Amino acid sequence: MDLIPAPRTHSFRPDAPPCPLGPRPWLDAGPGTAGTARWLRRELGAATGWDLPPPDPADGGAGIRLRLDPGLAVRLGPEGYALTAGDAGADLAGASPAGLFWAAQTLRQLLGPHAHRRSAPLGRGRSWILPRGTVEDGPRFAWRGMMLDVARHFTPKEGVLRHLDLLAAHKLNVLHLHLTDDQGWRIEITRHPRLTEVGAWRPRSRRGHRASPLWDETPHGGFYTQDDIREIVAYAAERHVTVVPEIDLPGHSQAAIAAYPELGNADVVDTAALGVWDDWGVSENVLAPTEAVLRFYEGVFEEVLELFPAEVSPFVHVGGDECPKNQWRASPTARRRIRELGVDGEDGLQAWFVRHFDRWLAERGRRLIGWDEILEGGLAPGAAVSSWRGYAGGIAAARAGHDVVMCPEQHVYLDHRQAPGPDEPVPIGYVRTLEDVYRFEPVPAGLSGEAAARVLGAQANVWTEVMEDQSRVDYQVFPRLAAFAEVVWSPLPGPAERDYGGFEERMAVHRRRLDAMGVRHRPPGGPLPWQRRPGVLGRPLDGEPPNV
Ligand code: ACM
Repeated sequence: MDLIPAPRTHSFRPDAPPCPLGPRPWLDAGPGTAGTARWLRRELGAATGWDLPPPDPADGGAGIRLRLDPGLAVRLGPEGYALTAGDAGADLAGASPAGLFWAAQTLRQLLGPHAHRRSAPLGRGRSWILPRGTVEDGPRFAWRGMMLDVARHFTPKEGVLRHLDLLAAHKLNVLHLHLTDDQGWRIEITRHPRLTEVGAWRPRSRRGHRASPLWDETPHGGFYTQDDIREIVAYAAERHVTVVPEIDLPGHSQAAIAAYPELGNADVVDTAALGVWDDWGVSENVLAPTEAVLRFYEGVFEEVLELFPAEVSPFVHVGGDECPKNQWRASPTARRRIRELGVDGEDGLQAWFVRHFDRWLAERGRRLIGWDEILEGGLAPGAAVSSWRGYAGGIAAARAGHDVVMCPEQHVYLDHRQAPGPDEPVPIGYVRTLEDVYRFEPVPAGLSGEAAARVLGAQANVWTEVMEDQSRVDYQVFPRLAAFAEVVWSPLPGPAERDYGGFEERMAVHRRRLDAMGVRHRPPGGPLPWQRRPGVLGRPLDGEPPNV
């Protein structure tokens, strides 16, 4: 058994004779299974050369049967599935369309690494066999996510679609897109065109982390048109992945201020002179706490809500992290706002921003999610928290009755280095090996059953300051995302009991699947020569603590 993530139960035995599938298997798609049937014809059909026609009673060969069996949900949860492989082929039953789709992903893994390629070789083709047996499976968590920072370095649309395929191949079901930051604004907002005309590019970028003296003088930029976003959202939905958009406020907003200087604290700094930030870190240039700024962002969110329909993502992420308060302390406008609103100083202003959009989204039937700093002002009951500064924010939120997505930077920030030593490309943050990620536990000890049930799941976060392109993202993300997928999917009792040796054995096969999908993952022995970035400084430098 070499499935990743590991299923709940299976009956495969090494001595059982395998079942050939082919050369011309049929596809019998029962009611409600059209989406997975389409995916199989397109993806598995491409890799195998199969047409997967409907079954012909005159031709008794093997095939693939798809059906929905909602009763499976009782045992296996709403995304559960059962898969049986025998002489007649494969029978896939999903508790829901999502469960059936995960069954199809399992089927593809069972067919071997070449089933992940995009075409079958010319000529004779390959023979395809399935191990004989049954899988019964369903995820541990409902939120199995990855956050991709497309603001620091832009991932063009094609790369996002590819990433959605990679998430689906690992049975992950949330892509949180960090669409805006100091260094770039990546989503077209038609009523505020300068957000992308001005905000979507910067003249240069620092190469390496903050201490690096190197600059890449190439302009960097790009953005998703609204049609691109619609395509991404629909492509994700076909793969049972939810795209959660993040518009970060009131900090991490310099790109927006560069586009519309009136959004910034113009009584303190010359916001008209600001450009999109070309450096890394947390910019001091934050939004001004005015009604006009609220109206501007309401306009932004109106377009965001239209692009990300509620039935696809009830959640809208408003950031809320790392908002420096120096400009508000110096700003007469901000000081007046503090008095008018009767809020508790500058921290109260930040809470006022977040609470405004919490209410505004709730009135529109949506749910706000934000980084754990949003807890500091008191939240509406429906708001959820991405716990990134460790577990503490998530624990406090869960105890207060808020839903939580665990993504502590000490464990699942995949921009952080994968090994000690000088060879890791642009090494930053904590050393977090494949095994460390495999041993990550989303639910901290000590939570009551009720509070633990508030942990919707977890996500791995991929910040891209030191990842200039898709190859660098692949290197940081894989294979650790495979370990993460098993953490959030598989019913493992606890970190101490996780069988890392068994996982590593399965990873040997899984690496061949990643190769077939064109993923430039980190080899077990460390980076290949062209995966290194010699001489490009990361952080911490020698002697500094890991989280500077
Ligand atoms: C974060 O890492 N600033 C959420």
